[in-house]
Parts: sequence; C-alpha cells; structure tokens
Amino acid sequence: MKGFYHLAELPTAEIEKLAVRALHLRAGATPKRFDGKALGLLFFNPSLRTQASFQRAAGKLGLDLVQLQSGGNGVWGIECEDGALMDGGNAEHVREAAAVLGRFVDVLAIRAFAGIQSLDRDSRDALINGFRKHAGVPIVNMESALWHPCQALADWTTLDLFDVPRRAKLVLTWAWHPKPLPHAVPNSTLCMAAQRGMEVVVLRPHGYDLSDSVMNEAHALAAANGGSVSVTEDRARALEGASIVYAKSWASLGAWGKPELEAAQRAPLREWCVDASWMKLTDRARFMHCLPVRRNVVVRDEVLDGPWSIVIDQAENRLHAQTALLESQFASLERKSQVRAKNPVPLEP
Ligand code: CP
Repeated sequence: MKGFYHLAELPTAEIEKLAVRALHLRAGATPKRFDGKALGLLFFNPSLRTQASFQRAAGKLGLDLVQLQSGGNGVWGIECEDGALMDGGNAEHVREAAAVLGRFVDVLAIRAFAGIQSLDRDSRDALINGFRKHAGVPIVNMESALWHPCQALADWTTLDLFDVPRRAKLVLTWAWHPKPLPHAVPNSTLCMAAQRGMEVVVLRPHGYDLSDSVMNEAHALAAANGGSVSVTEDRARALEGASIVYAKSWASLGAWGKPELEAAQRAPLREWCVDASWMKLTDRARFMHCLPVRRNVVVRDEVLDGPWSIVIDQAENRLHAQTALLESQFASLERKSQVRAKNPVPLEP
C-alpha cells in the first residue's frame, strides 16, 4: 500500500506535478470526485490546520469522512509495541485498531507526534509504522515523530506560488520555545528544500543538531538535485543573501526525554527569536513558519505582521496540496480496482 509517509519517497517530478495541481486547485480548478469512498482521520495530537484542511479536502473530493481523536472520550489508548504485556493504560493494540479501521475506510490519515520520552521509540516512528504495517490500506502521514510530509508538500507549493528560484537560499533557523518540540517539521523542511535543489543553511545554537540520519538524507537529496546543505551558528553569515527564513523550534537530541536538562540548556537562548533585524540581513527574504507559532517568543510581531511574512498563504496551501495529494491517492486506488475488475482471479474448479 503506497500512502504518503515522507515527501522524499516521491520522485521530484511527482512532487512537482502535485504542486502544480495544488496551484491549479488554488486558482479554482475542479477536483475529481470519489463518491462512496471513505477517508479516515485519526488524531493522537491537537491540530487546527491539518484537521480543518483535511476535512475540507475530503468534502471537495466527495469522500465520506471518519474522524477520530485519542484521549478523553475518543478512541481507546493504543499500544504499538509487539509482545507488550498490556496491563497498563492502553486498551487496544495497533494490530487490531489498524486492521479494523482499514475495513471501514479506503485511505487512513494518522497524526502521531514524537512523545519526546524515548529516542528509540520516536526514531522508529513506532505508532504510525504500526498503522502502516497493519491497516491494509494506504496511510497518509499527518505528522509523525519523524516527518510532516503534508506540510512539506504545501511548503513546496508555497515556494512555487511565490516564484522562489529553485537554487535560492533557504535558512532553516532554530528558535527558542518554552517546551522541547519534535523534529518532524525541521526534518521535513530540510529534506524538502534539499530535494528542490536549494542552498539550505541550518542555523542553530550548539547542541541543537538534527539527527545524523536526516542530515545524511538531506545531503544526498541536495547532491542529487544540484543543491547544498550546511550547518552554522553564525547568524549574519547564514542570513546574508537568503530568500527564505523558515523558523522552527526543536528539541535537543542530547537531552531527549530529560526535560530539566533540556530546559537548562535552552535557558540562555531566548534571544533566538526572529525579529526585523534578522530579516534586514537577508535579500528581502520571505518568512515562513508551519504554525501554530508563539508570537514574540519564536518570532516578533513586526515580522509576522510585516512585509516578510507569507505564513497565511503557506497555511492555505495545506488545503490545496492535500486535495491534490488525496486526489492522486484515490485515483490510484480507482485505477487498481479497474485493473482487478478486468482481470478477476479465476475461480478454482
Ligand atoms: N502546521 C500544522 O500542522 O498545523 P496544525 O498542528 O494546527 O495542524
């Protein structure tokens, strides 16, 4: 089952096609309809943009929607470790939960953030991979521990919308935040920009590197697509000539699961908040952030409300990019079922 787990699983030409389709949909093109087919949305974490844009995309495509939340009166707590002795809080295993949901819907979208307790579990992306293994239908990643591919596809679309040249400089900057945050967005932004062939600079303080495996993948994507990836703590050098400043906070890998150590490490870094002085060092750069964003913590009002910010268009493109993505996923399922109908499995005599 193909699904959509990580943007870089798609060839660059396919991403380009989806982004073009997203921009056509944004301009008013009519989406294909898949009446009678169903999309499931299962959220283990809060959401504004992802929830609203997937619901709206489902409506545009004529899909039935099954929307579920975890916690409170939502779905049962789900265990994802094989061989677990389930005498704790989780009432159901992903093997059953995924297989059952796969009988109700044709495509299942999952949001399951990193817990930032166990680096091993988060690095394995254990919960969404449990669904990918056991659902029997394509899984769309609405942000997992490692990746946020729908955000990355929308961001690619946004770069196209603003005619940002393919070789332009994108600075992915760490920002201070009161809490340690997952790596899915910075990982996906880094790899998306590398796959576009951009000059990507990761600007971060000491102790806030992204994982070696993600950096290695980004270097390989950049090499294959004519771009580059570098890492620095030198703000002025990083921002010089930048066309895009993409801000995001992320947790320290060295203090994963140790919130007190992480808080002490972050305490002297409050000045990592994007303000006008940062933007003035760039080549009239656009400011991007996936949202939600904490004003005057991650980025100052003057930037969000100033001429640099494109965050609202960026968020709007979640709808168009996901409509294009789901259209492509359901069209692919339709083609497969037509092939099966033409070539039925012969009955045994
Ligand atoms: N960017 C993003 O995924 O927003 P939500 O968490 O509100 O869905």
